[in-house]
Amino acid sequence: MKQQPDIPGKCPQTLWLTPQAAARRLQEGGVVAVPTETVYGLAADVYNPLAIERIFTIKERPANDPLIVHIHEESQLTSLVNNWPEVAIRLAEVFWPGPLTMIAPKHAKVPDIVTAGLPSVAIRMPAHPVMREILQCCQTPLAAPSANRFGCISPTTAKHVGDSLGNKPDGIVDGGPCTIGLESTIIAFAKKKIFLLRPGAITAQEIRQVSGFPVSPYKSKDAEDVPAPGTMPRHYAPQTPIAVLGTAASSVLLNQKKLGRIAFGKDKEPHTVKYHQTMNLSPNADLSEAATRLYDAMRYMDTCHLDAILIDPIPTDGIGSAINDRIRRATQNN
Ligand code: TXA
Ligand code: MG
Repeated sequence: MKQQPDIPGKCPQTLWLTPQAAARRLQEGGVVAVPTETVYGLAADVYNPLAIERIFTIKERPANDPLIVHIHEESQLTSLVNNWPEVAIRLAEVFWPGPLTMIAPKHAKVPDIVTAGLPSVAIRMPAHPVMREILQCCQTPLAAPSANRFGCISPTTAKHVGDSLGNKPDGIVDGGPCTIGLESTIIAFAKKKIFLLRPGAITAQEIRQVSGFPVSPYKSKDAEDVPAPGTMPRHYAPQTPIAVLGTAASSVLLNQKKLGRIAFGKDKEPHTVKYHQTMNLSPNADLSEAATRLYDAMRYMDTCHLDAILIDPIPTDGIGSAINDRIRRATQNN
């Protein structure tokens, strides 16, 4: 079934919270949308199963898709994980606080609903100053998936959250636009190597350099060693059909009437195609800037009543690998 797109300004009754008010609500068992440097999250106290259940309901997220737990300081790991590996300590020294999520065996105190029944838990220490203030004030780790309806595009501004979830959360904290704009890198440790479950701003190469371990992209055949129910091919998708320019799929979509184009870098294409809407992720071809704008561009294009969206090919170096991962998922099965 096709989901309805998010409608900007749909819900004016959103309750905007200060970090302190958000922390109080979270301590009382509330569910609050919070800013992080990657994307906005929909947070609840990790040790409160009823609050966690509301996250799944609000997001319309399947119960078999586990949540990431956000911490303020490493001492909180004691009641979250068993056997935090040496290599995780080393990676945390370099990359935390920041956009790196690491998976380790879960502590019995973590409710099963958080990890969707898995014996492991995903942990990250976010860097966003507002999120750090919330975590410090509420004094409990917060489970938080991205604050969008399941399968829709992750929010990179507080307004995106309101457009997607309306007043279903108990409030939203506006921490400005996310400075990275793509979800965190997720890794798991097994068989003396590191599995990359989701590419992000911290690259496989950086993880390899710091850890000294080989890093392999996650494949479905790895599920026995590292169960990862959330790695679906299509995700992060706009409702409008979308394809990368120059691919076979794009030549089909180019026959449509009302086209939108998400460009990258200087325009080299001869103007044979008339686009109804154009946005440029980064006129100077800066990949970090493109990452911060990708989801906003997809969301905007989705509101323009287009027949199709064409996106320029993006280089794969650095964060380009994560950008291409999200584009690949968005362009699956139009
Ligand atoms: O940047 C981020 O990671 C953002 C912000 C809010 O922190 N969060 C985020 O959460 O992207 P979410 O739920 O949208 O994506 C988390 C992914 C899901 O694909 C989930 O299946 C996977 O992490 N995950 C969580 N716990 C896991 C576990 N124990 N084993 C394998 N995969 C896990
Ligand atoms: Mg998500």
